[in-house]
Amino acid sequence: MRILVIGGGGREHAVIKAIKKNNEVKEIYALPGNGGIAEDAICVNIGAKDVDKIVQFAVENKIDYAIVTPDDPLVLGTVDALEDKGIPCFGPQAKAAIIEGSKAFSKDLMKKYGIPTASYEIFNDEDKAIEYLKTQDMPIVIKADGLALGKGVIIAQTLDEAIDAVHSMMSDKVFGASGDNIVIEEFLTGPEISVLAFTDGKCVKPMVSSMDHKRAHDGDEGLNTGGMGTIAPNPYYTDAVAKECMEKIFLPTINAMNNENRTFKGCLYFGLMLTPKGPKVIEYNCRFGDPETQVVLPLLESDLLTVMRAVTDGKLAETEVKFADKSACCVVMASDGYPQHYEKGFEITIPNEQKPYVYVAGATQKEGKLVTSGGRVLNVTATAPTLKDAIEKAYERVEKIHFDNAYCRRDIGKRALDAIKENK
Ligand code: AMP
Ligand code: GLY
Repeated sequence: MRILVIGGGGREHAVIKAIKKNNEVKEIYALPGNGGIAEDAICVNIGAKDVDKIVQFAVENKIDYAIVTPDDPLVLGTVDALEDKGIPCFGPQAKAAIIEGSKAFSKDLMKKYGIPTASYEIFNDEDKAIEYLKTQDMPIVIKADGLALGKGVIIAQTLDEAIDAVHSMMSDKVFGASGDNIVIEEFLTGPEISVLAFTDGKCVKPMVSSMDHKRAHDGDEGLNTGGMGTIAPNPYYTDAVAKECMEKIFLPTINAMNNENRTFKGCLYFGLMLTPKGPKVIEYNCRFGDPETQVVLPLLESDLLTVMRAVTDGKLAETEVKFADKSACCVVMASDGYPQHYEKGFEITIPNEQKPYVYVAGATQKEGKLVTSGGRVLNVTATAPTLKDAIEKAYERVEKIHFDNAYCRRDIGKRALDAIKENK
């Protein structure tokens, strides 16, 4: 089989390494891929948002199956365009990807179908939004409606901060057209849980749960980032919570999308918060999470490509999706300064024996060497029978890898370990 993977980050590297295990796979093309992915796939310099060129490439190269993982190409309808040419895909069509593409859509969906989430109002008028803010308790959460590189969420502690946030989104357009509509919602508290789930629109099979670490610095301090590390499974996701999520969130969401004539097929990401009143949805993503995928896929015992094709063919119910009874940790090695200014172009050295466990996120090939090219550079992973051992092993691997100006959080998984200890 000739496989096409759209995207070029650590998540795509993890997907590619997993599908390579399938004997039927002959060639994998990554569009655009990156300097590290180039060791596992043929990288082609076509951007993940360039739908026309992607489709042309897929047709010309007789692609048998395409995997679309990033949000932008999904929301832009890449799957629809490939399917129109008869190329089967993993990923939702645009009409279903809207579950991530518009927060106003997803909030209204949850309200209509009684799926637990923070209470909210949607505004397209700044004055009305500010009038509303004056009637609300602080802190409060302000979200740009559309995609904003995961940055369109502001938690305001005071009314002044909230008014500034609304103004920056609606008048100053800091998130572009994504801020034409905004969602103002209740501030929730509790541990966060990420659950990725395979669904073919008929059945839903959740993957092992995980925990992201979004802030730049230890102790959850500093700016929000795309994610500085992950662990799996998430100790807050007990069997009882899993059951409640299945009944009140996962199945109702799949059914709601079917009812709206927007059947979702692919990987649906549930960003959950375990509030004192039970689990609530913080956000939906229409795709694999990054860097959640980097801890979830190493624990998958079933063949990823087989599961993906079962999703496409509507045969997920008959297909086994099995995870190892182990733990995983992923530490993101970033360029110092990320998510703000950082330097790039530094040579990266990864010992050969570590390469199977390292997913490359932001690096390029220059004169035959791998050099840093992004804020988040490498995802260093490990699995082990216990979470404590997985964390130690991941950090041991980090020590063996080098590039100038490397930075990583030193406390990935600490909160999860503390939670495990408290429960004992
Ligand atoms: P999102 O981009 O929707 O995932 O939001 C980014 C982060 O903001 C989440 O991971 C939460 O930590 C936080 N957040 C979003 N919505 C809320 C909320 N209603 N209450 C508290 N925190 C929130
Ligand atoms: N880790 C959060 C995301 O993929 O959006």
